[in-house]
Amino acid sequence: MTGNLGIKVFVTRRIVGLEDYIAQYNLSHARIDVWEGTMPPPYEELVLRSRDCDGVLTMLTDKIDAAYMDSVPKLKVISQCAVGVNNIDLKAATELGIPVGNTPGVLTEATADIAFALLLSAARHIVPGYEYVKSGNWQTWDPLLLLGQQVWGATLGVIGYGRIGKAMALRGKGFNMRILASSRTLTAEDAAKDGAELASMETILREADFVSLHTPLTKQTHHLIGARELALMKPTATLINTARGEIVDPGALFAALKQGRPGFAALDVTEPEPLPPDHPLLTLPNCVIVPHLGSATIQTRREMTRLAVANLAAGLRGAPLMHRAN
Ligand code: GLV
Ligand code: GLV
Repeated sequence: MTGNLGIKVFVTRRIVGLEDYIAQYNLSHARIDVWEGTMPPPYEELVLRSRDCDGVLTMLTDKIDAAYMDSVPKLKVISQCAVGVNNIDLKAATELGIPVGNTPGVLTEATADIAFALLLSAARHIVPGYEYVKSGNWQTWDPLLLLGQQVWGATLGVIGYGRIGKAMALRGKGFNMRILASSRTLTAEDAAKDGAELASMETILREADFVSLHTPLTKQTHHLIGARELALMKPTATLINTARGEIVDPGALFAALKQGRPGFAALDVTEPEPLPPDHPLLTLPNCVIVPHLGSATIQTRREMTRLAVANLAAGLRGAPLMHRAN
């Protein structure tokens, strides 16, 4: 496509299937500069490499603020390869007339899968069980060993009922769970259609055996779960976070888990992220943490690349994005 001659794009990490979709969306003649590092580009590099670009394909690890946008004068589109866009100053982008793309929908099931995997793992002590075997402690069948919590028929509380929250609720239905759901926009009727009950966050925290967080990170949800909220949870309950680390106050979580209320936490996201190896949360036996793997299946990551490249191509043409976050 000669129309793309002279167009330049910076892609801030290596991603699955990029070359395929660059060809499919007619960007083969654009200059595609890919950051090859295994670590994200430092902010200065990000600015430097983007400076003469028409478009940028970003990750959730890139800080895309107003100063960045000011330093990329030709920027026509910011295409984020993620559903969450809390790393991007959306207001600044909107003021500059720059569309910001994201990739909702395609990572819903993979993310709900990992939330449910964490739920089961916490309930049934999968990680401590493996460590027990590996460390040579398995001498006999023990009637009291690693007793967990029943998942079948337990109460699942879903805080934030977008696509992923709903997909989590559906998984709970498959395990005969009672589903309590809270969100700013959910109605009792819509919840009932999924076999769920609309509940306040407070009711969920008090009653649920498993509380799973699925809100975006915004000013309103920053540290939504703090000491007061954690204290409402049952000592047998588990908190699951696959959304964003900053939704939970990590100091309050550490103190609460230390006291055994809630009894367990299972996290795919943390604050800070990555979590340093000497972080206090890693000293607790009742906390399991995986490194932000929510969307990490080959199929989902390909689809995310496809949507991100589609958004990028549309933005470069000045056409509406498939998914626009601002
Ligand atoms: C992952 O966390 C995403 O927002 O896509
Ligand atoms: C993400 O796709 C969500 O809306 O939960």
